[in-house]
Amino acid sequence: MRILVTGKNGQLGRSIQKLVNTDAKIDINQYSNDFIFIGRGELDLSSESSIGHYFNNNDKFDVIINCAAYTAVDRAEEEYELANQVNHLAVKQLAEIVKAQKAKLIHISTDYVFDGESNKSYTETDKTNPINIYGETKLAGEKALQVIMLTNAVIIRTSWMYSEYGNNFVNTMLRLGKERDELNVVSDQIGSPTYATDLAGAILEIIKNKGFKEISQATQIYHYSNKGEISWCDFAKEIFKIAKVDCKVDPITTQQYPTPAKRPKNTLMSKDKITEKFNIYVPDWKESLNACMSILKEQ
Ligand SMILES: NC(=O)c1ccc[n+]([C@@H]2O[C@H](COP(=O)([O-])OP(=O)(O)OC[C@H]3O[C@@H](n4cnc5c(N)ncnc54)[C@H](OP(=O)(O)O)[C@@H]3O)[C@@H](O)[C@H]2O)c1
Repeated sequence: MRILVTGKNGQLGRSIQKLVNTDAKIDINQYSNDFIFIGRGELDLSSESSIGHYFNNNDKFDVIINCAAYTAVDRAEEEYELANQVNHLAVKQLAEIVKAQKAKLIHISTDYVFDGESNKSYTETDKTNPINIYGETKLAGEKALQVIMLTNAVIIRTSWMYSEYGNNFVNTMLRLGKERDELNVVSDQIGSPTYATDLAGAILEIIKNKGFKEISQATQIYHYSNKGEISWCDFAKEIFKIAKVDCKVDPITTQQYPTPAKRPKNTLMSKDKITEKFNIYVPDWKESLNACMSILKEQ
């Protein structure tokens, strides 16, 4: 199989590369020669012509994993056009290309398609109602994809992603914890963190799964994050506890921490559908946080 992965420099793209290159345990090395990782330099999703040019000048792919996205949640409030192009229109164009190539598409979406007003875990069929531009453009991407590809696509919504790479909550807390004795962190937003390596592993499991390989599987949405629930404030406390950083964390409300983009209060998502369909193990968030932080410690 020729498997194309976009967003090679992002958290998820790098995590997939890490597993493909190193992790014999999940037995994907049989595929390793067939993975092609590309970044913005090869394929600029903000440009319709760049997308067309890339696929016209490369052999057909069997699977495309779209990890690239416009992810600057606050900046998106000011950059609707760009966010919409990358998260919606480019996804639509990709879906058309993938369909024409009779290939399969794995696309990543977000918990921010929900408004966060539910008091239970969201399932894949729950009503979407994004409350910021990023969520709106990601939802538009999901919908466009579903209209074009009735079959052969998998959409995975994930949440609160962190990794060893780039800017994320864990890295930010570790940096701030060194600079300050005390920090205010929002305590009234609840969710489940996702270690990018776990999601990368889940994606590779899906590719290996017979159900995915079969032709004409209906396009489906799945939810994936780590198991368990936590607030940002308690997440920060756990990061400092593991790293043995002496920084006091004080809970504050969302109202006390205004941001350009609104954040949903509860984005817990049920993982039942993805675990049942693809037999995927979902580690607890604490177990995965420890795994990530022990790698960070070694670096
Ligand atoms: N991070 C989270 O907490 C979170 C939560 C829910 C869902 N998600 C979704 O999960 C997926 C992966 O997220 P992530 O955290 O790995 O994102 P990330 O680290 O921000 O990486 C996104 C990647 O997309 C690339 N990109 C942005 N604009 C592009 C363009 N115009 N053309 C080509 N590439 C472009 C970036 O390229 P450069 O490196 O060149 O900038 C970057 O490598 C995304 O679909 C995101 O929406 C993330």
